Amino acid sequence: MSQELIERAKTIMRENDKGGYTVPTRGLYPFQWNWDSCLSALGFAHFDEARAWREIETLFAHQWEDGMVPHIVFHAEDEGYFPGPSVWETGRSTPTSGITQPPVAGFAVRRLYDRASDKALAEAKARALLPKIAAWHDWFFATRDPDKTGLVAIIHPWESGRDNSVDWDAALDRVPTEGVMPFSRRDIDHANPEHRPTQAQYERYIWLVQHFRRLAWDNAKLHDASPFRVVDPGFNAILIRSSSDLAELAQALGEHGLEARARQQAAAGVAALERLWSEELGQYRCFDRAVSRFVESPSVGGILAAFADIPLARRKALAKRIADLGERAQFVVPSHDPATSVYDGKRYWRGPVWLIVNYMIADGMARSGDHATLRRIVDDSLRLIELGGFAEYYDPISGEPCGGDCFTWTAAMVIEFLTHMGGPT
Ligand code: DGY
Repeated sequence: MSQELIERAKTIMRENDKGGYTVPTRGLYPFQWNWDSCLSALGFAHFDEARAWREIETLFAHQWEDGMVPHIVFHAEDEGYFPGPSVWETGRSTPTSGITQPPVAGFAVRRLYDRASDKALAEAKARALLPKIAAWHDWFFATRDPDKTGLVAIIHPWESGRDNSVDWDAALDRVPTEGVMPFSRRDIDHANPEHRPTQAQYERYIWLVQHFRRLAWDNAKLHDASPFRVVDPGFNAILIRSSSDLAELAQALGEHGLEARARQQAAAGVAALERLWSEELGQYRCFDRAVSRFVESPSVGGILAAFADIPLARRKALAKRIADLGERAQFVVPSHDPATSVYDGKRYWRGPVWLIVNYMIADGMARSGDHATLRRIVDDSLRLIELGGFAEYYDPISGEPCGGDCFTWTAAMVIEFLTHMGGPT
């Protein structure tokens, strides 16, 4: 069974391979997405190491001069996606979007390097990527943490990767819609509209894009000028984990200057993350920097913090939280708590289970030796695949596959679960 699943996963990855980069899925997402590529590279590494490195190299070939790595690279024209390059107008020769995404590259590159069978190739590739990833991290701390709090803010819900999470509702409500260009969405031609963000959310997403475009995508201005500035524990945990993985990689490669800086960034992040802990929710929660207010929202962003090297007591509390969620859902880890009135089990990030998030949480649990939580997450993830195929996300109660189909990173995570995380019980 495992081998058959691995073969199906490889087939999906090959079918979505455009040569040098993969699309997340055909139709709905026809370009290269940042964190999709980094996590998908882990899947490629199981059957083609050179191809795995190439996925990340292609992404970094489009890094901006200021260090930002954009969330989408528009390698080819495709009218089937909105908003395309003419909406972003970032002025790049190969068009890109103008915002970023969860910085998982440092983690992915260290993992590729540590597991590589072709050590010479891995060393050359990691050595070339190391300063680029460090520049991206420096960019985050310079432009998204101007007051040096140790934590960075996102300025658009799309940056979080958790586009329509309940976490953003109050902040997004403050984003105006006056002057938004008329547009027709394309996502709902490819996926069930009930599984996607609402029109009201899209209008605000596009308002923010137009606002940043008017500021000529100048990252020295965007943070302070954005009405949407939220500190997300999940996003920061990914940055912290990537920083500590980058430090390990830099140490292995004898790059001691980069190592020291990355270690310092990770340590400052871990200390600052503590401010986002909520005793009441039993997990971390977001902070709305624009109005200096915590967002008391029990979403998976606050559980994803387990991916960083947080204190053991916090990891244990998060494991308890997952166990509690597991009483209310058939499949963990739901992206929002099913006990709340705003939970929606099929609507993108307002309830559904995502395998990439499960993978990162499971990895954090493995690091603290919590094999029971790891087991529950891996078992539930593999059951979802067996029941519903390689979907974008799944209803945590019914297991119904939702959103897009034949997803690259879902396939990559299945390969990882089966080969590195204990496989099926
Ligand atoms: C989309 O178009 O839905 C993406 O999540 C934006 O990156």
